[in-house]
Amino acid sequence: MSEPSDPEPDADPDPDRLARLDRRHLWHPFTQQQGWTSEPGPIIERAEGTTLFDTDGRSYIDGVSSLWCNVHGHRHPVIDAAIRSQLDRVAHSTMLGLTHAPAIELASRLCELAPAGLTRVFYSDSGSTAVEVALKMAFQWWAQRSEKGSSRRRGYICLRDAYHGDTLGSVSVGGIDLFHACYEPLLFDAWRVDPGDVGQLAALLEDRGAEVAAMIVEPLVQGAAGIRVQPPGYLRAVRELCDRHGVLLICDEVATGFGRTGKMFACEHEGVAPDLLCLAKGLTGGYLPLAATLASERIYDGFLGKHEEWRTFFHGHTFTGNPLACAAALATLDVFEQERTLERLAPKIQLLAALLEQLVEQLPAVREVRRCGFMVGIELGGFPAAARIGHQVTVAARREGAIIRPLGDVVVLMPPLAISEHDLGRLVAITARAIAEATTPGAQSS
Ligand SMILES: Cc1ncc(COP(=O)(O)O)c(C=O)c1O
Repeated sequence: MSEPSDPEPDADPDPDRLARLDRRHLWHPFTQQQGWTSEPGPIIERAEGTTLFDTDGRSYIDGVSSLWCNVHGHRHPVIDAAIRSQLDRVAHSTMLGLTHAPAIELASRLCELAPAGLTRVFYSDSGSTAVEVALKMAFQWWAQRSEKGSSRRRGYICLRDAYHGDTLGSVSVGGIDLFHACYEPLLFDAWRVDPGDVGQLAALLEDRGAEVAAMIVEPLVQGAAGIRVQPPGYLRAVRELCDRHGVLLICDEVATGFGRTGKMFACEHEGVAPDLLCLAKGLTGGYLPLAATLASERIYDGFLGKHEEWRTFFHGHTFTGNPLACAAALATLDVFEQERTLERLAPKIQLLAALLEQLVEQLPAVREVRRCGFMVGIELGGFPAAARIGHQVTVAARREGAIIRPLGDVVVLMPPLAISEHDLGRLVAITARAIAEATTPGAQSS
């Protein structure tokens, strides 16, 4: 267990009362509540940099960036100040029929940063909604085109084991049976191809390309599938095949965007510009819910027309383009520049790779370590599902002072880009000890 940390936690919160109320009233996402209610978990009270503190004053490295979204650390003075300053002006104002400076400035900055040709920004509030928006835009764009055959383009291609969020459109182009199979009767059909298999995609497009509106991919690495890394050149080949068959390409960079893979956007590794780009998570540095779907001018033009032609994109959420969130996003981009985050990330990625190399040799339970930039999946092998081995590792890691979260038997590490080399070393060491503890017979925690 990690030592109680300095400074002392507030005397105010009564952890026992909070725990009781949590168990009585909360329903946590992706959580079997039956187990949750009998298992004590930390109640996070505050954070500093890349460290989280619970109500008992224990400290933990934020090993999964608060669900893959924290970038520059918690309570970053620049981001905090930007939100406070915006709070003194207006916390929320609608984007339907009105506009505001933070949304305008951010849209302009995003278009400058994004792969070439993405010139329009449509805001929403989560990764799932950014994907819904892209799917609907692609569908409506084809529906509104006048050339022969465009009305046949109603289908989507996605990757096997894809994850694009939990709303029904996103689930329709997802492929993680455990999460998605139950909803099958509610979903629209999509063609699924094996990631990395160019020939299979080429054959499908040859056969059905004229019926495809868009293909959606998580570029370079499929996160929720268990950090599955695609072979180099695959994304480029996907872009070329989509172009050859007139299919729109949607890149979902909800997980990979904002430096996660070592470049600002994963698409940059292969010089690919999609027609639609989905961003969320790291967009606000992980501070506030905000998402953006970036579109090319060609897509945007397809929605223009007289009012009574009804080519409008009839979609918009209440908190779309929230000013506080946009202010946080602008400050996040400022910090990327001021702190040269991507430059300073490169040696940390090398260090992470070197630290992980030793894991496979040291720990017999480790079947494979997969990594792309600062996204890591450590797959453990040989355990029955009931052992919940990934979960046991995270419980052991917590006792040692790190918060991590598995995907089944894959232990995921996804530290904030701002993590120090020292804490990166600690995170990997804690994870290794937790794997050893949880996978050694007799040493397993309950
Ligand atoms: C690639 C990808 N797309 C979409 C989403 C959904 O994002 P959100 O949870 O913000 O809806 C996620 C979430 O992990 C993701 O990894």
